[in-house]
Amino acid sequence: MSRNRIIAAIVVAAGRGERASGAGDPTPKQYRSIGGVPVLARTLRNMLAVPGMNHLAVVIAPEHAERLQRLAIDDPRVLPPVHGGPTRQESVRAGLAALAPLRPDYVLIQDAARPFSDAALSQRVIAALADHDGALPAMPVTDTLKRSLDGTSIVATEDRHTLFAAQTPQGFRFAQILSAHLRAANLPREFTDDAAIAEWAGLSVRLVPGAGSNFKITRPEDFARAERLLAGDNLMETRIGTGFDVHPFEPGTSVWLGGVEIPHTAKLKGHSDADVGLHALTDALLGAIGEGDIGTHFPPTDMQWRGMASAHFLRHAAALVKQRHGRIVNLDLTLVCEAPRIGPHVAAMCASIAEACGISASRVAVKATTSEKLGFTGREEGIVAMASASVELPREE
Ligand code: CTP
Ligand code: MG
Repeated sequence: MSRNRIIAAIVVAAGRGERASGAGDPTPKQYRSIGGVPVLARTLRNMLAVPGMNHLAVVIAPEHAERLQRLAIDDPRVLPPVHGGPTRQESVRAGLAALAPLRPDYVLIQDAARPFSDAALSQRVIAALADHDGALPAMPVTDTLKRSLDGTSIVATEDRHTLFAAQTPQGFRFAQILSAHLRAANLPREFTDDAAIAEWAGLSVRLVPGAGSNFKITRPEDFARAERLLAGDNLMETRIGTGFDVHPFEPGTSVWLGGVEIPHTAKLKGHSDADVGLHALTDALLGAIGEGDIGTHFPPTDMQWRGMASAHFLRHAAALVKQRHGRIVNLDLTLVCEAPRIGPHVAAMCASIAEACGISASRVAVKATTSEKLGFTGREEGIVAMASASVELPREE
């Protein structure tokens, strides 16, 4: 590009949204929320995020002024609200008139009701303006199309390979589309998009690939579709991890288990506080997110972990889950020992584990069993802990 083009956008939001108005909700579609964010706020945000965007005119119905204000759009590139007219064509013309003093080179004209256009799509439109007067995103038609004059009897079957569904934002060289719109204003016919006006004016208009997600909110069910699209964006996947640990007894007076100190006739031997339960849980969490094991994060050769409370290790693993924008769904711990008796301490252990992981105690289970006097646990030489963790992480493709 020889010089920086001035790029402006018009977002037309002056419609009544009659086809989308569902039972009971009087809010026009462009002011209703999807995923907690109003449709118009999303559309404005997307247009302002288009690289090189210099000015934006938002065209509204005069009676919606307060609704627009409540969106609290605070960006110096946004012009004072422009009042639209009774047809989309008139609303666009009002937006063009408002931008004219700024003498933009290009203008992107966008429906407020398309909250999912991405910057790449707008960039395709802008790129096409290097050799064309206008450009619009479009999708090939997939259904076979029937022509009917009365909605029942068929007059013809169209060749769908030559048909494309027009989307917005549509881009134009500003001076040309302004002039075309001014001339078209005097015609008895009404145009439903700006490309049609450009075509009528003899401008060269090019199709660029649109996007399926760039649909227009038109009917009540489109809100559910939009919510599904957003949910799909943040889809989580479930991960499972397991942990296993053993610590032998040595002479002492208490053991640490599940973050709780329990009086006993021996203690557990180990580098830290030897809390075999928390070690197994830490490994289960690290396993679920594929981040090695407790030894890789806290090498036993490192003196600083000597006598350390094992809650520190568990807290670290839980923090790694959070760092990955994940969440712990549940933790399950089984302790295998003849003694001490675990039952009376289960609630305290669950609370302590939940606290270390920043989750509710209802997501933590601690169970205990003996090994029927068999093996090293049966001979009371040590304690075994087994744990599993279920974690949700953002889906990886
Ligand atoms: N629009 C506008 N001024 C109008 C009519 C429409 O600015 N007089 C805008 C709408 O706000 C919308 C876009 O043009 O963002 C596309 O129009 P459409 O989907 O038809 O929206 P509405 O006209 O609001 O809906 P309906 O036709 O169902 O009443
Ligand atoms: Mg309409």
